[in-house]
Amino acid sequence: MNEYDKRERLKEFYLKIKDCSRCELSKSRTKFVFGSGSAYASVMFVGEAPGRNEDLQGLPFVGQAGKLLDELLGMIGFDRSEVFIANILKCRPPGNRDPKIDEINTCKDYLLEQIKIIDPKVICTLGKFSTQLLLNTNKGISSLRGKVYKINNRLIMPINHPAAALYTPSKMEILRQDFQKIKKLIETNGKTAGYQEDILSMEAENEEDKGEQLGLF
Ligand code: URA
Repeated sequence: MNEYDKRERLKEFYLKIKDCSRCELSKSRTKFVFGSGSAYASVMFVGEAPGRNEDLQGLPFVGQAGKLLDELLGMIGFDRSEVFIANILKCRPPGNRDPKIDEINTCKDYLLEQIKIIDPKVICTLGKFSTQLLLNTNKGISSLRGKVYKINNRLIMPINHPAAALYTPSKMEILRQDFQKIKKLIETNGKTAGYQEDILSMEAENEEDKGEQLGLF
């Protein structure tokens, strides 16, 4: 697919899904939050769901967590317009509650299609939900973050969610360090990273969780 096609396809896809009413969240949303950035991005960031500010503006990561994300991107020489930022859910869960499994399962096709069109080299998953979804695991974020996983020829690097880092100073330092890793990963085209190729065979941590596993691939 050439670059022009990517932009056109992403735009067409937005027009196709922007009035989505597949789940209850569509009834309480102010704006549908498709995601923003470059259709040609080699790096994509995937968060959880829009919050209050995102719902009002129709853009991802524009509140406090978004300011931090911008700062971290700036630290490694990126502007948000050069990457693509999206969420698993495109509509805000009331009161910013966690996404429900059925909401994730209803909405995940949209994210998958965005990934397919943009075809980024690296996907950074922000926090537990997008990490578990894209790595098809129910392991916790603390054991996964900062490592690089290769899935279907794409590099996935889970990091802490910026909102979590805002409340926990130790997570902030880890997040800053992980952004330096992202920088290296991009500069070296992933060549120096140690991949965990067998992530798909990771065992679920307990039987109970298995039914709740969020599989994408
Ligand atoms: N948190 C997210 O996961 N996504 C946003 O867009 C904002 C906050």
